[in-house]
Amino acid sequence: MAALLSRVVPSSGAPVVVELGPGTGSVSDAISARLPTAGRHLAVEVDGGLVAHLRRTRPHVETLCGDAEKLGSLLTAAGIEGVDAVVCTLPWSILGATKQRAILDQVAVAVLPGAGLSTVADSHARWLSGARDLRVGLDRRFDEVIPSRIIWRNVPPAMVYVCRRPSLVDPRAAPHGTSSRPARPTELREMPTT
Ligand SMILES: C[S@@+](CC[C@H](N)C(=O)[O-])C[C@H]1O[C@@H](n2cnc3c(N)ncnc32)[C@H](O)[C@@H]1O
Repeated sequence: MAALLSRVVPSSGAPVVVELGPGTGSVSDAISARLPTAGRHLAVEVDGGLVAHLRRTRPHVETLCGDAEKLGSLLTAAGIEGVDAVVCTLPWSILGATKQRAILDQVAVAVLPGAGLSTVADSHARWLSGARDLRVGLDRRFDEVIPSRIIWRNVPPAMVYVCRRPSLVDPRAAPHGTSSRPARPTELREMPTT
């Protein structure tokens, strides 16, 4: 699972990788193993205890304490102008549609053209509206969304979406589902969450 998720991490150059919901850091280690030495690995975690754990055990990861919904301002504060890959293990199915959309809008603005995103989706929750909202949200923001098979040996069983070619849709300019493609913003900015 961690190896599959980290496949979107470029293995050469100086990529910027953002991990959302790193938790205890098991996926962080797979990202670090793949990331070139010139790359940057930023992890956004909302739980203060886990942030302290990650900073203590993985000092090479730039762990940012905050909500993924505020990704734009967190990255701006860290001096990041664009992201090459996003690896996400947020609990999407329990976040709710509004929160999901707010986070995905932030990701859509942060990623560079050619960036990839990978994310876990719990297989036991795949019939819940939260899981369907996630698939729709990914389809609207990426040109290609590839679901993996269910990985039964994961606890709990889960699947991975690998998404490529961000659609560059500015959610402020186009209602969800339209094909409007305004020019890409040149700097990160806060997106409205309503
Ligand atoms: C399923 S766990 C991640 C598991 C992780 N891969 C591990 O090895 O521990 C989800 C994580 O997302 C974090 N999280 C939940 N909502 C978040 C949000 N809005 N912003 C950032 N982190 C969030 C939780 O605190 C938790 O650590």
